[in-house]
Amino acid sequence: MIKAAVIGATGYTGQDLVRILSAHPGVELTLLTSRQNQGVIYGHLFTACRNLVELRLSQLDYDQAAQKAEVAFLAFPHTESQVAAAELLARKVRVIDLSADFRFRKAAIYRRYYSEHRFPALLRKAVYGLPEVYREQIKKAQLIANPGCFPTSVILALKPLMQKRLIDPKSVIIDSKSGLTGAGRNAAVDFLFCEISGSVRAYNIYKHRHQPEMDQELSRLYGRKTEVTFVPHLVPINRGILSTIYVQFPRKISPSRLETIYQEAYGKEPFIRVLSLGEQPDTSKVRGSNYCDLGLSLAPDGRKAVLTSALDNLVKGAAGNAVQNMNIMLGMEETAGLKQIPLHP
Ligand SMILES: NC(=O)c1ccc[n+]([C@@H]2O[C@H](COP(=O)([O-])OP(=O)(O)OC[C@H]3O[C@@H](n4cnc5c(N)ncnc54)[C@H](OP(=O)(O)O)[C@@H]3O)[C@@H](O)[C@H]2O)c1
Repeated sequence: MIKAAVIGATGYTGQDLVRILSAHPGVELTLLTSRQNQGVIYGHLFTACRNLVELRLSQLDYDQAAQKAEVAFLAFPHTESQVAAAELLARKVRVIDLSADFRFRKAAIYRRYYSEHRFPALLRKAVYGLPEVYREQIKKAQLIANPGCFPTSVILALKPLMQKRLIDPKSVIIDSKSGLTGAGRNAAVDFLFCEISGSVRAYNIYKHRHQPEMDQELSRLYGRKTEVTFVPHLVPINRGILSTIYVQFPRKISPSRLETIYQEAYGKEPFIRVLSLGEQPDTSKVRGSNYCDLGLSLAPDGRKAVLTSALDNLVKGAAGNAVQNMNIMLGMEETAGLKQIPLHP
């Protein structure tokens, strides 16, 4: 059994890590940490886990963590993971970080969107943890930067067309909608029921922190620097992301060719489900699961398409993908602990 720690176990992604890891056949949860709830039994704090998770939350002590766990999931807010990752790596604990702290290859980009990076050398060591793109690198990684939830939905949808350079990257427009758990378990006026219920709004246009992450990864797939237009929206649901992506083809493409490209790219991927042409994915059909469902719709002229991508921001967009990374990194069955059918209705 692999001994695993969840550092920052009381946030939304921390809770989903505990949910998934506690049912994982090859994992023993040995450490759960929290600053604010030290000493409390996890199942007493989160009563959905009553009688199921009996570990006590403890404060983070790096020596103790290294004794108790061989892999640690960091579910801290961004900027808070840097020191924890460095300390744990120094003690030979493998780290899967769910924050943005190790997602950028260039410290300058991290500085522009977040803050000065305290361990820029670790940025070169980190592997961007999207298995459908970096599976081979993940196998050898010590430090994995789990991708952001919006970028996961977008990169997975665009990868086949970007890699084959079939679309004009400047034409890409991304309209993404996210449920409220995407903002974390914080009390803030903007996220009060009365502010959110019955309302949809766009936010952070041209300045969302997931934009440079998408640009970094899509540029690598395309083989040249590219910048997409990304507009996130907040919608009144708990979980789920739906990204609607508009693309243009410089040369006409046929429906069967478009379908074949996606089938070839994802036919063997355990967590990507490519729907029939014109069929639309739905956040409620991936809820609670590690699946990303992709929809393809081609315009009658064969020069434009709309891609749609649905996933659960806390699972394929965070905790589930992190466990998939752990499975790959530690040589376990890639789907272990992740085969749940989505929670529908
Ligand atoms: N929510 C999503 O859909 C999602 C998806 C992908 C990635 N992520 C990333 O995953 C990370 C965790 O996200 P989350 O949504 O789970 O966050 P969250 O709900 O706000 O939880 C944060 C956790 O970190 C702990 N913590 C430790 N130091 C902290 C500090 N200085 N300030 C606040 N909390 C601190 C908190 O517990 P204590 O205060 O008790 O220590 C809590 O357990 C973030 O970096 C986020 O960007 C989130």
